[in-house]
Amino acid sequence: MLSPRADRRCFFMCLAASQLLFLLLMYRRGASSVFQGIFGANPIWDYSKTQDVYTNLSLFIPDPGAVRAQYCPVTSPILVGPLTITFPKPPSLKKIRVKNPYVTSGGFYSPRHCYGRYRTAVIIPHRKREAHLRTLLYYLHPFLQRQQLHYAIFVVHQTGNATFNRAKLLNIGVREALRYNDWDCLILHDVDLIPENDYNLYICDDYYPKHLSSAMDKFQYSLPYWAYFGGVSALTPDQFMKINGFPNTFWGWGGEDDDIAMRIRLSGLSITRTPLNLGRYKMIPHDRDSGNEENNYRYNQLQNTRRNWKDDGMNSLDFQLLSREKTELYTNITVDIGEAPVIPTRARKWKIF
Ligand SMILES: *[C@@H]1O[C@H](CO)[C@@H](O)[C@H](O)[C@H]1NC(C)=O
Ligand SMILES: *[C@@H]1O[C@H](CO)[C@@H](O)[C@H](O)[C@H]1NC(C)=O
Ligand SMILES: *[C@@H]1O[C@H](CO)[C@@H](O)[C@H](O)[C@H]1NC(C)=O
Repeated sequence: MLSPRADRRCFFMCLAASQLLFLLLMYRRGASSVFQGIFGANPIWDYSKTQDVYTNLSLFIPDPGAVRAQYCPVTSPILVGPLTITFPKPPSLKKIRVKNPYVTSGGFYSPRHCYGRYRTAVIIPHRKREAHLRTLLYYLHPFLQRQQLHYAIFVVHQTGNATFNRAKLLNIGVREALRYNDWDCLILHDVDLIPENDYNLYICDDYYPKHLSSAMDKFQYSLPYWAYFGGVSALTPDQFMKINGFPNTFWGWGGEDDDIAMRIRLSGLSITRTPLNLGRYKMIPHDRDSGNEENNYRYNQLQNTRRNWKDDGMNSLDFQLLSREKTELYTNITVDIGEAPVIPTRARKWKIF
């Protein structure tokens, strides 16, 4: 038998060892970005001093004699930090078009005087939100150009009156976007969120799915809860396939983002986040849409994620493609995704939370 003192020594050694293990794990999981957010290791941004998102974009207009022989610098030279985001009357498509003369058909863009280092596809699920979409496009095109990305914007438009299904539309967007290019990064973007800082780069983390909208104004610029993954996120195609994409079975508002967060963990990945003082977004004010009622069944569904995620996702994606149209500012992918199954009322009422 050990003496009490030896026992105590073992206790402290075990404690030290477990702390070391914890630190190692945190390190591996890229927690540094979270700590940075909490302890302010990145610059303290002053959001009372903002710049117009179109400021100095014209500096990127190429000198006609120049040869585009080099990669763009790792950090774009014209980032300004906090941006002025206001919501007056939504701009017209024509106005956005005029302000973004180098965007080509389908909403594609590549930097004009250097090779873009990163290829980013932005995918936006959409239905009956034309005014929001115009506001987003007005801010997003120059935002992405400031970052010198090679990018394209895909809008996945759900037809018909069936319940909205955000996650399924995003799966479709990924499948379709990958037809056009070998993207380095997929940005899955809600139509009503506008980024407030152009240092919030729309590029992926090499290792882990990244949550970009960590601080939304509607949640007082903080995370509503620890595992939150809604709004805007960034995954590489490999990360996306590793979690089998998003669930196809969450109809209506809510739940799918928690399912996604759980898939990320279940597939051995974890979430990294943009620091809170950088991942700031303003939400365009609006009422809840009709056709996107709260999904009351979501808590039942979330209990089954562990069992279902490998069978519900990209490998079970089924939809009818109605059209692919290249408009001047985005590619419009219009789909019929069917209807929500009828859920027996008894099952729907049974909630655990
Ligand atoms: C815009 O560019 C000019 C000229 O390079 C520079 O002096 C100015 O500081 C820039 N403005 C911002 C907000 O970065
Ligand atoms: C959708 O709803 C609108 C308005 O209620 C109606 O006019 C339209 O016919 C419906 N469309 C379909 C495909 O059911
Ligand atoms: C996308 O295309 C469909 C079919 O042409 C059209 O009905 C819809 O309004 C378009 N949506 C957007 C956002 O452009």
